[in-house]
Amino acid sequence: MEIKVLKSYKELSSTVANVVKRQLKKHPLSKLGLPTGDTPLGMYDELVKRELDWSHVITFNLDVYLMNVDHPESYQNYMRKNLFEKTNIYPDHSHFPFRPTSAFEDKIAGSMGIDLCILGIGTNGHIAFNEPGSSFLSRTRVVDLDEQTIEDNSRFFGSVDDTPKQAITMGLGTIMESKKIVLMANGDHKLNILNVAMNGEVTESIPASVLQNHDNVKVFYCD
Ligand code: PGA
Repeated sequence: MEIKVLKSYKELSSTVANVVKRQLKKHPLSKLGLPTGDTPLGMYDELVKRELDWSHVITFNLDVYLMNVDHPESYQNYMRKNLFEKTNIYPDHSHFPFRPTSAFEDKIAGSMGIDLCILGIGTNGHIAFNEPGSSFLSRTRVVDLDEQTIEDNSRFFGSVDDTPKQAITMGLGTIMESKKIVLMANGDHKLNILNVAMNGEVTESIPASVLQNHDNVKVFYCD
């Protein structure tokens, strides 16, 4: 698979923001799959600057920690702060994985599926919180986070002890049903896993390698 290498984080952010902008201009009723974490922060900034009409857009976040949603590091707060309260999206139109997880799946299916899904990649090759070993057919479910993921995410919580150990994530099967997928990766610590996932063996031990089985994926990287 082609990995498009961009010159800077700024260019990565605006390139992906422009993909979203084109999607919303062409299809104002789009359903988006959206990521959290460090990588998409610049993309959300760029999207806000583009002053798009979000009034008909429906969003589905990829994952949430199993924790108090009022915690400052909850993904619900992240999305509110970085995107939702800076656009005219209707609160009722933004969805986060919840239990029963089959009801979240029904919500996606009931809105006719995700048109464009933006993904990051973890240093262990996860997409959303589908950790190594996740079935390619997996659906939204509660998962235990990998030790590597807990370690990586402890930077947001101050210590490994305070970092959530469980999450609800869209499954790989769920993500793969998106019509279009964009994966963004920032930093040379992601380059090796990105290359392995995009051009190595397709295997459940590297969850992102499932994307090789999708026919509409764009991959953007900057170091
Ligand atoms: P990051 O996380 O953007 O914070 O590096 C990406 C991921 O774990 O999917």
